Amino acid sequence: MLFGKVAVGVAAIAGAQHVLSKSTLRNGSSLIQPVFRPLDLGSIKPLGWFKDQLELEAAGLSGNMFDFYRFVHDAKWIGGATEYSALDEASPYWFNGLVPLAFGLGDERLLDQVKYYLDYVLDHQQDDGWLGFETTRATRGLWARCLLLLGLIQYAEADPSQTERIVDSMHRYVVLAHSMLKNNYTGLLVHGNDTFDTAGFGVGRTHELHIPLQWLLERSPRNNSDILWETMDLMIDGGVLWGADWRTFWTEEAYPKTLLEDTSYNLSWVFIHGVNMAEGLRYPLSIYRMSGDEALKTQTRTALDLLTKYHRSTPGTILADEYIADLNPSRGAELCIAAEIMFSTAYIYQFLGDNDIADWVEQTAFNAFPVSVAPDWWSHQYVQQENQPWSRNLTTDDNWWDVNSYANVFGLEPNYPCCTVNHPQAYPKFLANSFLATEDEGLAHVFLIPGTAATRLGKDGSNSVFVTANTSYPFNHSVQYTISATSPFSFYIRIPAWADKNSTIDGKTPVLPDSNGFHRVNVQAGESSTSVQFSTTPRVVERANNTVAIYYGALLYALAIEYDSVPTAPINYRSQEVLPANTTDPAGRTKDHLLTPKTAWNVAIDPRQISVVQTRPMDRQLQSPIWDLGAPPVELQVAAVEIDWPVVRDTAADPGTFEIKATGKPFSARLVPYGSSKLHMAVLPSLVLDDMDLKQ
Ligand SMILES: *[C@@H]1O[C@H](CO)[C@@H](O)[C@H](O)[C@H]1NC(C)=O
Ligand SMILES: *[C@@H]1O[C@H](CO)[C@@H](O)[C@H](O)[C@H]1NC(C)=O
Ligand SMILES: *[C@@H]1O[C@H](CO)[C@@H](O)[C@H](O)[C@H]1NC(C)=O
Ligand SMILES: *[C@@H]1O[C@H](CO)[C@@H](O)[C@H](O)[C@H]1NC(C)=O
Ligand SMILES: *[C@@H]1O[C@H](CO)[C@@H](O)[C@H](O)[C@H]1NC(C)=O
Ligand SMILES: *[C@@H]1O[C@H](CO)[C@@H](O)[C@H](O)[C@H]1NC(C)=O
Ligand SMILES: *[C@@H]1O[C@H](CO)[C@@H](O)[C@H](O)[C@H]1NC(C)=O
Ligand SMILES: *[C@@H]1O[C@H](CO)[C@@H](O)[C@H](O)[C@H]1NC(C)=O
Ligand SMILES: *[C@@H]1O[C@H](CO)[C@@H](O)[C@H](O)[C@H]1NC(C)=O
Ligand SMILES: *[C@@H]1O[C@H](CO)[C@@H](O)[C@H](O)[C@H]1NC(C)=O
Ligand SMILES: *[C@@H]1O[C@H](CO)[C@@H](O)[C@H](O)[C@H]1NC(C)=O
Repeated sequence: MLFGKVAVGVAAIAGAQHVLSKSTLRNGSSLIQPVFRPLDLGSIKPLGWFKDQLELEAAGLSGNMFDFYRFVHDAKWIGGATEYSALDEASPYWFNGLVPLAFGLGDERLLDQVKYYLDYVLDHQQDDGWLGFETTRATRGLWARCLLLLGLIQYAEADPSQTERIVDSMHRYVVLAHSMLKNNYTGLLVHGNDTFDTAGFGVGRTHELHIPLQWLLERSPRNNSDILWETMDLMIDGGVLWGADWRTFWTEEAYPKTLLEDTSYNLSWVFIHGVNMAEGLRYPLSIYRMSGDEALKTQTRTALDLLTKYHRSTPGTILADEYIADLNPSRGAELCIAAEIMFSTAYIYQFLGDNDIADWVEQTAFNAFPVSVAPDWWSHQYVQQENQPWSRNLTTDDNWWDVNSYANVFGLEPNYPCCTVNHPQAYPKFLANSFLATEDEGLAHVFLIPGTAATRLGKDGSNSVFVTANTSYPFNHSVQYTISATSPFSFYIRIPAWADKNSTIDGKTPVLPDSNGFHRVNVQAGESSTSVQFSTTPRVVERANNTVAIYYGALLYALAIEYDSVPTAPINYRSQEVLPANTTDPAGRTKDHLLTPKTAWNVAIDPRQISVVQTRPMDRQLQSPIWDLGAPPVELQVAAVEIDWPVVRDTAADPGTFEIKATGKPFSARLVPYGSSKLHMAVLPSLVLDDMDLKQ
């Protein structure tokens, strides 16, 4: 059934992807093509634990805020009265995340929500082409429309009955945006009394218009391709004039390696803002697609490497609260950064094809992102810490740059509400990028979560392919595939870099991945099956000041901390007053949660002594919610000892700033997947202990 429906959608635009019409060309050249191409939204459906997660997301805050949350339910975009800032970005963020969630699940209730929004916004497009409610030059900023368009192109892919209408509307808007930009970058640069972007968020993210416009250029350029090309140029040029050229920032010389309060720094603030950085990673590539300048591709790799070396956290996000500082594990990382990192690294991977980038996407998806979301998806943190012994209103906000003391509470809007509306995109887009088409008309399973892919391969789209990936990955290290195809094709299984030589395909070794980390399977026409089993051992990664982080497979492990959770009424992020009932869930499911530890958090470990523990049989279905303490079926035991760990600024002190002194008898400590442990210590001082029996 589903397959049939999807296949129709794919067929409707088949060819558009492969045969670039003349009108997409500029000066005889077309956009640079990715190495791996995503399938149209809706082609991939979740299974197993990932389906459970998306269903929890749909049943939780993401899938319900449309009904009560003031920045969505009462958004000016749909005739209401409430925006949290002059950027007017809240409901476009929400739409960009809910479209892939609704179509990924095929959930009728959510499909109704996004259809309502789509209808309202398209039906209220203004006569001059403006999308949105703003009517004056001072209030009309282009930025929020980038997010809207990102949502629109996904919608147009997933529902062919809306494609024409969406494309019409986008063209009308682009013609207007183009004329505004030609007029001294109106809508991008703030002139005189303009209010739409006084801080510079939009102008720091000018490349965000590129994904939608490049999509339009390839799928449906009409007679408008010159304007599309020029609009993208103008966005970049305007940003450059303002001082937000990411090409000047992602360099060894300019990039600030540590940035403490007293470090001198002369470039724009936009470059050191974590969410901007997660998005700005894509800036060079968006220009590379248009110019073919290989240096920009190289620079993208440099950007990833700089972040990795100086500011990438152990669970895979950028340590930035809201600005980068150093690798202090008590500093924070904003939830939206994890969501944007997942989207950016998944996108960059499609062009660069480096295996470590795909591992990075998984690292963030299985660690940094879920740790900040409550198991039931009804609350989230604004800021997570790698070492986070409690989650409550701290007595001070001095630990952070521009984040309040309440930011690590699990809540409705524990700090800026952008995370409330932007976090929904992370998992649905991760799913949508999990299978990718390859240049040789094959298919690759890249993010190894359970799911199905239905697509048509081959130059003429005649090879109808359906793949099922049955797995509990990353909790279990094996994946079983069943495949049906009308013609032979190459199926590629990505082998994570951590998988060792004892990994098997169909029970046989060796697995010999190609230079991009793929094992290729020659799939015959008809039904077939194959399976992979990854072999690995726990990995110890050294961090600053004689600390370590422990990984096993794609999961980071952290000290399990049992806690008491006290629900309280959700508060307004600005006033810190309890929110009125008209913006919270009528059924009372929107609560803030204060978590207090019941077990020790102050430990050092001996990373030479680690053992893997299976807490329940692997062949069973995983518990749901899986990202909850004790739910994942794999844990580690490690030799540990309690130490005197000072509390500074109402949180665990930065290791390296105090002497490691054991205070008790060594014991075998329980490490659990980081994403499941809302209180956790992940970056632990390392020491040597006498050999012990780790079985408790
Ligand atoms: C394409 O040609 C136009 C003039 O015809 C020129 O202004 C523009 O810079 C060229 N673009 C590229 C990418 O070479
Ligand atoms: C364009 O905008 C800038 C910045 O607001 C202003 O300084 C400049 O005078 C404007 N130029 C024109 C031609 O209006
Ligand atoms: C800016 O606003 C002030 C006061 O509202 C007004 O006097 C002035 O003319 C405005 N300037 C522009 C350029 O619109
Ligand atoms: C396409 O645009 C060109 C100029 O930009 C114009 O001469 C031509 O008539 C247009 N064609 C159609 C079908 O609108
Ligand atoms: C920033 O500018 C000041 C004064 O212009 C200069 O002394 C300093 O070296 C610059 N700092 C950096 C990091 O470039
Ligand atoms: C390591 O410890 C030193 C103090 O000994 C401190 O200044 C530095 O910030 C710490 N490094 C990190 C990355 O936290
Ligand atoms: C949180 O603590 C700060 C002081 O650090 C205080 O100003 C604020 O009102 C508190 N918020 C709540 C909701 O208790
Ligand atoms: C997945 O595999 C498990 C056992 O390995 C089996 O019980 C289950 O039916 C399979 N599910 C699908 C969708 O094939
Ligand atoms: C592979 O398995 C063999 C036999 O169990 C073992 O001796 C060897 O250490 C393993 N190699 C790796 C890389 O784990
Ligand atoms: C919600 O109630 C507050 C007062 O309690 C009021 O100011 C606000 O306008 C109401 N919002 C909506 C969307 O009804
Ligand atoms: C994963 O689950 C399968 C059953 O679905 C089981 O046979 C296998 O042993 C498990 N793999 C690991 C690494 O635990």
